[in-house]
Amino acid sequence: MTRRNHKTGWVSEGALITLSMIWLSFFSATTAFAADGGERDLSVFPCHSYSEDCGKLPPPPIEQVEWSGELGDVEDGREIAFSTPLGNCLACHQINGGDQGGTIGPSLVDYAKRDLPYEYTYQRIYDTRVYNPDAHMPPFGPNDILTDQQIRDVMAFLYSLD
Ligand code: HEC
Repeated sequence: MTRRNHKTGWVSEGALITLSMIWLSFFSATTAFAADGGERDLSVFPCHSYSEDCGKLPPPPIEQVEWSGELGDVEDGREIAFSTPLGNCLACHQINGGDQGGTIGPSLVDYAKRDLPYEYTYQRIYDTRVYNPDAHMPPFGPNDILTDQQIRDVMAFLYSLD
């Protein structure tokens, strides 16, 4: 009985030591972080800041563009449309060959069958606000999300969907 008590006592002491060691290492990690200026310096991520001016930039002006030139590359376009950091079109649209397409935007399945003019599609992707100033779709051109060539690639992909 006494032995058991003794053992239990020893175990909890050991556990206590381990716990304090964990706590100490956590504490030193947080103090090292706090030594770095106390609050996090968000100025290196200006657009993640709610308090810096650069986090409150107005949206870029609406840009009306003219279509001329050629469609781009279908395979590159597919990659851009399905890539999260680039087009991320699948987040909002149903698209042939894409899993779990979103429903915030209209379906783009069989887009080619709709015979929509290139001018229209180019403007829609470049800056959809020309058609709807409150659109949820990002203005890929003015926001520098996609280059002109990447928009042409995505268009080539859309016009291959039938
Ligand atoms: C955050 C959601 C979102 C993302 C991301 C998005 N769209 Fe859209 N898209 C919309 C919405 C919503 C509309 C409906 C039009 C509106 O809002 O005025 C739309 C409309 C369109 C239209 C016009 C369709 C029609 O039936 O006339 C095209 C084409 C289009 N999007 C292509 C794209 C492409 C290509 C991408 C990727 C490069 C993309 N969208 C990314 C939300 C999105």
